[in-house]
Amino acid sequence: MRIVVLVSGTGSNLQAVIDAVASGELPDVQIVAVGADKHGTYGVQRSADAGIETFVVNFKDYPQRSEWNHALTEKCLSYQPDYVVSSGFMRIVGEEFINAFDGTYINTHPALLPSFPGAHGVRDALAYGVKVTGCTVHIADAGVDTGPILRQEAVTVLPEDTEDSLHERIKVVERRLLIATLADLAAKQHSS
Ligand code: GAR
Repeated sequence: MRIVVLVSGTGSNLQAVIDAVASGELPDVQIVAVGADKHGTYGVQRSADAGIETFVVNFKDYPQRSEWNHALTEKCLSYQPDYVVSSGFMRIVGEEFINAFDGTYINTHPALLPSFPGAHGVRDALAYGVKVTGCTVHIADAGVDTGPILRQEAVTVLPEDTEDSLHERIKVVERRLLIATLADLAAKQHSS
């Protein structure tokens, strides 16, 4: 199963997938490329360090969002992936991208969707005062963190939690869910 992973930041969840592939935990998964929407992300750096092909489709280089979206779509298509995984990719992709990867664009989110979508899922959950939050892996559609849910798990909010401490505990669960989801998808592909 060929996957392209998209990142905007540190890529610690991506690192867990890289490690799972390297250790043989995901024997049927190949990370064919890692891409970012800006230069200088640690996610791209760590992928290059792991010998994975990388690319940047820099959002700021395109006057129109649709042009960026077109370039990103074409770039991802060029790797002929079975799935594209948004792992901390913080840009909304447009219709062209969603149509090209209809049902095969996977996103992870640090909250129990449909609660607290958007760029600040952990902060928003803390601000609301929920006692339980969590993470979601889902098939992404054209909305913001919307689409059919594949896996979801709860994480308890502790009284002393900060956004960082809670996010770190969520990410531990998120990594496990993402790897399990990729294993499910690879198994499904293998048997079809
Ligand atoms: C992850 O928690 C991911 O769910 C979140 O960004 C973090 C990336 O961490 N994505 C979103 O909030 C998308 N709405 P990482 O760069 O350390 O893997």
